[in-house]
Amino acid sequence: MQDQNLKDFLKEFIISDSQLQEVYKRFTAEIRKGLSQAAHKQADTKCYMTYVQDLPTGDEKGNYLALDLGGTNFRVLRVALKGHHEAEINSKVYAVPKEIMTGSGTQLFDHIANCLAEFVNEHSLGDQHLPLGFTFSFPCIQLGLTKGLLVRWTKGFQCAGVEKEDVGRLLKEAIARRGDLVIEVMAILNDATGTLMSCAHRNPECRIGVIIGTGCNACYVERVENAELLEPEYKIDKPNILVNTEWGAFGENGQLEFVRTDYDRKVDKHSLNAGTQLFEKMISGMYLGELVRLVLHDAIQKNLIFVRNTVKHNFINILKKDIGCIETRFISEIENDSFPDFQQTRNILKELFGLEKASVEDCQKLRYICECISKRAAKLVAVGLSGLINKIAEPHVVVGVDGSVYRFHPHFDFYMRETMHKLVNPKTRFELMLSEDGSGRGAALVAAVASKN
Ligand code: BGC
Repeated sequence: MQDQNLKDFLKEFIISDSQLQEVYKRFTAEIRKGLSQAAHKQADTKCYMTYVQDLPTGDEKGNYLALDLGGTNFRVLRVALKGHHEAEINSKVYAVPKEIMTGSGTQLFDHIANCLAEFVNEHSLGDQHLPLGFTFSFPCIQLGLTKGLLVRWTKGFQCAGVEKEDVGRLLKEAIARRGDLVIEVMAILNDATGTLMSCAHRNPECRIGVIIGTGCNACYVERVENAELLEPEYKIDKPNILVNTEWGAFGENGQLEFVRTDYDRKVDKHSLNAGTQLFEKMISGMYLGELVRLVLHDAIQKNLIFVRNTVKHNFINILKKDIGCIETRFISEIENDSFPDFQQTRNILKELFGLEKASVEDCQKLRYICECISKRAAKLVAVGLSGLINKIAEPHVVVGVDGSVYRFHPHFDFYMRETMHKLVNPKTRFELMLSEDGSGRGAALVAAVASKN
C-alpha cells in the first residue's frame, strides 16, 4: 500500500519499538502488583488464584460433563479422558439469546440448566452422575475450586444479580430448581486456565494458556512463594499455582493512554462496560471489527479511501449507523485475500455497501487499515506473553493458544512471534501451540485433577 496520506492517518495505530518496551515495563509491573499482598488492590491485572496446583499427567481417565460459557456460544460437553494424553469429546452448542445475556441472573442460570438437562437426556447420561467442570470465562475471585465470585461481567454480558455472587452456587441452585438432574459441580475455571490444562495434557512443557477470541486473557504457572495472596496451607505440599491474570483489564489506571487512540476511547464509551477491560478492547474479537468500522468511516470522510466513489456518502451513513456491521471475521477474510483479485474483500464490500466494483487500490487500502489494527492487537498480546514467559524463566516454555481471532486470522500468529522475538529473553525458547478444545477438555482435566486430590 503506497498511499502516504492513508499511512499518516493510521500512524497512531503503529506501536514503535520504544513504545513496546514501555508497555512491556508497565505490564510486568502490573502483574507483580497483582500478585503482591500490599499492591493487589491497586493492580489492574488482579492475578486471581485458580486453586489449580497440578498440571495433568496425561494419564487421567474418566467421564465428565463440562459447561462452557463466555465466548460467542454456550456449550455443553461430555469429555471422556482416556489416558495416554487422549480425550474424546461430544458437544452441543446452544445459543444464548441477547435477552438472556442482558436479562436476570436467574434466567441465565435456568437457561444453562435447561440446556444441560437437554444434553444429558439426548445422550442418556441421566443415571451416570457425572462430575462437572464449569468453564465460566469472566473475572472471578475464587474461594476454592468450586466457589467463584463474579467480579464483573465482560464481553457484552450484563445479567442482573450475579456480580459478587458465587456462580457455582447459582448453577447448583438452577440445577436444583429443575429437580431432575443429579450433578456434582467439581470445579469452576476460566477458559484461559482450561486452555493451559488442555495443552499441558498434550505437552507437559506448557506453562501458559492464552485466549484471543471474543475476549482476551491469560493464565500461567506461578511459584507459590510469589503468590502472596495464596493462603499458607496451599503452599505446603505444592510448588506451583495456576494464576488467572485477567490481563484484559490492563490499562484501567491510565497505563495505556500513551498508545490508545480516540477510536479506542469511542469503542470503550459505546460498550456495556465502559472504562474497563481496556487492553482487551484493543485486542479481542468483540472490538476489532468496531475499530475498523470507526476508522474506515473517518478515512472515507477524509477522502482517503473510496475517493472516486460517487455513492460514498451512503457508505459513511452505513458505517455511522450500523454499529457492529464490520465483524471481526471480515478482518481475517480481508487479510487472507489475494492480490489482485481481492475476491473476498469485494464480496464483503458488496455485502456491506452494495458496492459492485471496488478498485484494486481501494481493496489494498482497506487491507492496510485491517492490518494496522490486527498487527497492533498481536503486538499487545505478544507483550503480555513475553512478560509471562520471562517471569517463568524456564529454558523452554510452551504457550497454549485458543480463540477465534488467533485461529482464523491468517497472520496473527506471525505478528505475535515477530514481537515476541524482540521481547523474550534469548535464553528461553518459546513455542506456541493451538489448543484443542481448552474449555471442554480443560474443564474435565481440572475436575479430574481435583478428584485425584
Ligand atoms: C474475561 C476473561 C476471559 C477472557 C477470554 C475476558 O473478557 O474477563 O475471564 O478469560 O475474556 O474469554
